[in-house]
Amino acid sequence: MPTIPPERATLPEREAGLEREPSPERELHQYRQMAESFGGDAERYDRTRPRYPDALVERIVAASPGPDILDVGCGTGIEARQFQAASGKVLGIEPDVRMADFARRSGVEVEVATFEAWDAAGREFDAVVAGTAWHWVDPVAGAAKAAQVLRPGGRLAPFHHVFQAPPEVMEAFAQVYRRVVPDSPLNLSSQLTRSPLDAYQPMFAKIADGIREVGGFGDPEQWRFDWERSYTRDEWLDQMPTIGTLTQLAPEKLAEVLAEVGAAIDAMGGIFTVGYTTVAVTAARIGTA
Ligand SMILES: C[S@@+](CC[C@H](N)C(=O)[O-])C[C@H]1O[C@@H](n2cnc3c(N)ncnc32)[C@H](O)[C@@H]1O
Repeated sequence: MPTIPPERATLPEREAGLEREPSPERELHQYRQMAESFGGDAERYDRTRPRYPDALVERIVAASPGPDILDVGCGTGIEARQFQAASGKVLGIEPDVRMADFARRSGVEVEVATFEAWDAAGREFDAVVAGTAWHWVDPVAGAAKAAQVLRPGGRLAPFHHVFQAPPEVMEAFAQVYRRVVPDSPLNLSSQLTRSPLDAYQPMFAKIADGIREVGGFGDPEQWRFDWERSYTRDEWLDQMPTIGTLTQLAPEKLAEVLAEVGAAIDAMGGIFTVGYTTVAVTAARIGTA
């Protein structure tokens, strides 16, 4: 689950939860401790994080010249398994060995590295995808590496979930987070006034700019897929510890956050619906296969 976006324009990502004031020169992908923190509870991550819409997976497969897919930041293998079912051949790249081990146990072939440092050793692919992970990759170096490994006509398609939970749930989270992490630079309440899709646009623009800067691709487009899911209190609280804002929080502080958000959900009747838009920023490598 992504969380509420931080207010700093340099950090449009909903998973940010920084320990100190971000400097304007520092991009999100440079916060490596958070970038590689998700394996602390890989089992919970895989159990609770939402899957990606089948229509998105099918559209990427259909718009790629062949079945070879490279999944950047594959984590525990959530979208890799979906692409395996739809396409057949997926190689995951994942720097966190705990996430990589989980993905391997679930049947995904994984090489442990950041995408920027990974050695493709001359291999080529028909699509390079990334589920909620491209913001942790240098957008220019990542696009350059994708251009290097994509066959002509191959597709680069990083995608992210944008979500809208009820304001009561988001406000409760913002308030308790402010109290338990008083020195956080994040003012989560200030984000409640913007639509989640608007809050994500700077990040999507950055991805598209990286692709344009590298060149060799057609103009990037956005593909959007709307869906929704209902959550019980327990389902939502089970997922919350996997978000980047909370992965490094002390257990007693995390418990306080969960208790308060849980109380807000109870007050709403214990169940609620979350609206999701999954957005791919995508471009094909120029050339014919
Ligand atoms: C939010 S998780 C997403 C995992 C999975 N794709 C999913 O959607 O469930 C982000 C993943 O990106 C990985 N990651 C962080 N920096 C990376 C980099 N530079 N190159 C490749 N993967 C990276 C993290 O270790 C983490 O597993």
